[in-house]
Amino acid sequence: MYKITLIPGDGIGPSITEAAVRVIEATGVDIQWDEQYAGMAGIDKHKDPIPEQTIESIQKNKIALKGPLTTQLGKGFRSVNVALRKEFDLYINLRPAKSFKGVPSHYSDVDLVMFRENIEEFYSGIEHYIDAQKSAAETIGIITRYGSERICRAAFEYARKHNRKKVSIVHKANILKYTGGLFLEVGKKVAAEFPDIQCTDVIIDNMAMQLVLNPNQYDVIVTTNLFGDILSDLCSGLVGGLGLAPGANIGTNAAIFEAVHGSAPDIAGKDIANPSAIILAAAMMLDHLGENEASDKIYKAVQDILKDPKKVTRDLNPDSKVGTKQFADFLVEDIKAMK
Ligand code: NAI
Ligand code: MG
Repeated sequence: MYKITLIPGDGIGPSITEAAVRVIEATGVDIQWDEQYAGMAGIDKHKDPIPEQTIESIQKNKIALKGPLTTQLGKGFRSVNVALRKEFDLYINLRPAKSFKGVPSHYSDVDLVMFRENIEEFYSGIEHYIDAQKSAAETIGIITRYGSERICRAAFEYARKHNRKKVSIVHKANILKYTGGLFLEVGKKVAAEFPDIQCTDVIIDNMAMQLVLNPNQYDVIVTTNLFGDILSDLCSGLVGGLGLAPGANIGTNAAIFEAVHGSAPDIAGKDIANPSAIILAAAMMLDHLGENEASDKIYKAVQDILKDPKKVTRDLNPDSKVGTKQFADFLVEDIKAMK
C-alpha cells in the first residue's frame, strides 16, 4: 500500500483528480490518499496558498498528485508551483509528448521525452534594475556543474530504463560559452558513462526548427531551464496541444505529478473538462513507483478511448456529450476488461 498526497487543486482540479483516482483504483494498485489543499483552496481552508500541513504531507509521503492551482496575480502570494519546486528540490521537469490516434495534430507519430532542468539559471529569481531610473535590468542565470550533472544523468538513466536509443543535449554553447559551455561539457561527460545510448548535441535555435520539420529525429531531450520551458510547449504543440500533456516534477526526496494545463475556471463545475492529462500524469506516477503494469494499463486505456470520437470530451469532439465522469467510466471499464 502506498501513501500519496492528493492535492485536488482549483477550478476543474477536483473533478479531474477524482477521475484520476478512480482510474488508478481500477488498476488495483492500493493507495491511501492523504488529501491536502493548496492554491485558492489552501487560502480558503487555511489562509495560506501553501499550508504547512500540505508541505508536511509531501515531506512524509514523498509523492503527490496535484490538480492545477489558480495563481492570483498581484496579491502578494508567492507562486505555489515555484515554491514547491524549491521546497522539495524538484530538479527534474519531465514532460513526454506522444501522439494519440484520433487526436488531430500536425504529426501522427511523435514520441519525445523532455528533461528540463527545473531550478537553476534564469528561474532562480536573481534579478533587478541596475538603477533607480530603471534604465537597464539584469537577470543572473547561474548554471552549476552539480545541477547540470544531475539533470543529464536523469535523462540518460531514463533512456536506459525505458529502452530509448538517443539523448540530445540542447544548448547555446556557441554564444553562452561559460554557462552553455559548462552544461554541454558536463552532458558529454555523463554521456560517456552510457555507451549504449547514442548522444547528440544540438544548438537551441536549430533544435526549434528541426523539431518542427521532423520531430522523429529525436527521442529523449535534455536542456536547461528556459530552453526547456519553451521547447516542452513546442513539443506538446506537435501532438495537439496542452490538453493531453502530463508533467512530473521530480527530486531526490519527492516527486509531484500534474497536468501541464491550468485550472480552467471558464469550464469549472460543468463536468466537461478532459481529465486525460492528469490521468496520464497518474500513469507516470505509477511508473515512477515501479508499478509499470498498472501504468501501461492506464496508458493503453487512454489510447483506446481517444480513438473513438463518441467517447471523448467536447474539447476533442465538439459534437460529443461525454463529460469528465463518463470519460473516466470508459477508462475504468476498459482497464477492468484488461488481463
Ligand atoms: P488553462 O490551462 O487553465 O486554460 C486554458 C484554456 O484551455 C481554457 O479555455 C480552458 O477551458 C482550456 N482547458 C484547460 N484544461 C482543460 C481540460 N482539461 N479540458 C478542457 N479544456 C481545458 O490556462 P489559463 O486560463 O491561462 O489559467 C487558469 C489558471 O490556472 C490561472 O490562475 C493560472 O495561473 C493557473 N495555472 C496553473 C497551472 C498549474 O497549477 N500547474 C498551470 C497553468 C496555469
Ligand atoms: Mg512553461
